[in-house]
Amino acid sequence: MLGSIRALFVERFGLLAATLQDEELLHRLITGLGPERISGAELEALLAQAAGQPFAGREIQLLIEAITIRETSLLRQLNWFEKLARHAVAPLVAARRAAGRRDITIWSAGCASGEEAYSVALILAEYLPDVSEWTIRIIGTDLCAAAIEAARRGVYQSRALREVSDVRRALHFRQHRHGFEVGAHLRAMVSFELCNLLDPESMPSAAFDLILCRNVLMHLEPVARKRVARNLLGRLAPHGVLVTAPSEATPELFHPLVRADHGELLLFQRTPLATTTPHMPVPLCPPDEPAGAPDIPFMAASPAPTPRDGIIAQLDDMISAGRLGDARRHCAQAMARAPLDTGLINLMATLQEMDGDHEGALLTLRRALRLNGSDGTAQLRLAALLRRHRGKKALGADGCKRDGQKEAHRRV
Ligand SMILES: C[S@@+](CC[C@H](N)C(=O)[O-])C[C@H]1O[C@@H](n2cnc3c(N)ncnc32)[C@H](O)[C@@H]1O
Repeated sequence: MLGSIRALFVERFGLLAATLQDEELLHRLITGLGPERISGAELEALLAQAAGQPFAGREIQLLIEAITIRETSLLRQLNWFEKLARHAVAPLVAARRAAGRRDITIWSAGCASGEEAYSVALILAEYLPDVSEWTIRIIGTDLCAAAIEAARRGVYQSRALREVSDVRRALHFRQHRHGFEVGAHLRAMVSFELCNLLDPESMPSAAFDLILCRNVLMHLEPVARKRVARNLLGRLAPHGVLVTAPSEATPELFHPLVRADHGELLLFQRTPLATTTPHMPVPLCPPDEPAGAPDIPFMAASPAPTPRDGIIAQLDDMISAGRLGDARRHCAQAMARAPLDTGLINLMATLQEMDGDHEGALLTLRRALRLNGSDGTAQLRLAALLRRHRGKKALGADGCKRDGQKEAHRRV
């Protein structure tokens, strides 16, 4: 029986044979399906039904849910995402701006329960000061329907946020009775679909500027890996970038793309250079950046360094030490040095909310909107703050509530 399941999964999804021992496969089936279903006749009937179904079918999905390895988290290996921001997102944004365009299409292929797709949305929200003026489309896909449902819910336990700093947590998530819910400003960029990477017909049909396929190929058979690589290439825009982890892609896998190795981030790009000098690394840093410059934090949104650089880490330390007052003072000093930086103003509003100073946060968010009326983060947070405190005298007394709602709703 295990042999038949293995054969089905290898043939249809490229999964298993290389990665799971019999005992591990059995353990997954028992845990996923329940011991009673593992008795010979039950499992045989389930397998017979599953074998004849499209991959979205109920029985095949029961097996997929039991067997697939879906470990993931938000900003998983933070350093990887910092490198992604520097070596893939920054050049992509620069190229778009140079072409007078403000649209980016991204695919998180094998996204499990969606954390990777939301992490990319978070990077873009922090990296683009004018994010609300862009059309950002991030599609997360996975083989497992239960994972896609979880991704659409977008509610995660604190374990999934273990690499998300307190400030980021406050900026991009909101408390939910089952954990932390992804903020509406990130959700607005992301959608999810079922997809088998071995089957081009089930794949999203866009031409993607950036494809992330990370910790997926490593679970596939060598032949399936090649098929998936070919399918991904078929969906890459002419100047698109594909990223994986180094342990899972040999240099030939994505031929004729040009490969650039950035430690834990492996990047492939289709470029005219590929036909003439196949082994020449693509110059991915913007021309004014010296080679070997330190990785940029996502919050450093504008090309020129701002006082925000590094401040998040300092604020995080202060918050962890319970020194909210110091954090507010520190942020205020940075704001005094850069009074037009709405990112800093948003940070200040976060600190005020954490400190229970909702009225202060309201005024601060309105200030951010006065400076930049299309600041999506400030709009959404102002609307949320007003919703939470609807009817509270403190916010209604001076008429700011009415104005703020009008202001926020007009823009959201
Ligand atoms: C370990 S998770 C990786 C999640 C995320 N990319 C990350 O690195 O955190 C691997 C995911 O690949 C999905 N997967 C495996 N084979 C697939 C296939 N043939 N088509 C689509 N998804 C597949 C699994 O369902 C699983 O959710």
